[in-house]
Amino acid sequence: MSIHADIDRVIITEEQIAERVAEIGAQIRADYAEAKRPLLLVAVLRGAALFVADLARAIQGRVEIDFMAVSSYGSTTKSSGVVRILKDLDEDIEGRDVLVVEDILDTGLTLKYLLRNLASRRPHTLEVVTLLSKTGKQQVPIDCKYTGFNVPDEFVVGYGLDYAERYRNLPYIGVLKREIYAD
Ligand code: IMP
Ligand code: MG
Repeated sequence: MSIHADIDRVIITEEQIAERVAEIGAQIRADYAEAKRPLLLVAVLRGAALFVADLARAIQGRVEIDFMAVSSYGSTTKSSGVVRILKDLDEDIEGRDVLVVEDILDTGLTLKYLLRNLASRRPHTLEVVTLLSKTGKQQVPIDCKYTGFNVPDEFVVGYGLDYAERYRNLPYIGVLKREIYAD
């Protein structure tokens, strides 16, 4: 059974993703060129796993990668605003240049919580790169240093983003057929 059959339409192609990730990677390399210690990429599991893998290679400079997991929506498509840390970082980030890598900025509630939590650990710098940002949906203002693409306010899947843990392995970003959603 092919996962492609469940997609109504592709909104960002594999080629567009690759091109944008290369651009952002080059920008990050330039921006952190003077840093004394390697940039620490903090990817938010599980959605950002694919993005950070490509982004880290696109940066082509010294980086370290760590992961955090926070509670997500379960199998629904609505943001609850309730965030819990399910897996914390392995690294101590005090004094480090930290770049949080997110898959999608929707309401901003997840990132707001995460940034406040990480800031309390006294990193040298703390910035955000998000692959996608949902236009007009932010309930709390989040200052993203790097944004891949602005997307319309629709539930999207692919390239790490899931619906009920499925479709993360689509190479593009797309919208599911209406009949796939349970709610
Ligand atoms: P926020 O707290 O509302 O900004 O939600 C952020 C998280 O919700 C993301 O890291 C995703 O895991 C998930 N999410 C939000 N919108 C979508 C979507 O359209 N598709 C898949 N996951 C989403
Ligand atoms: Mg999710």
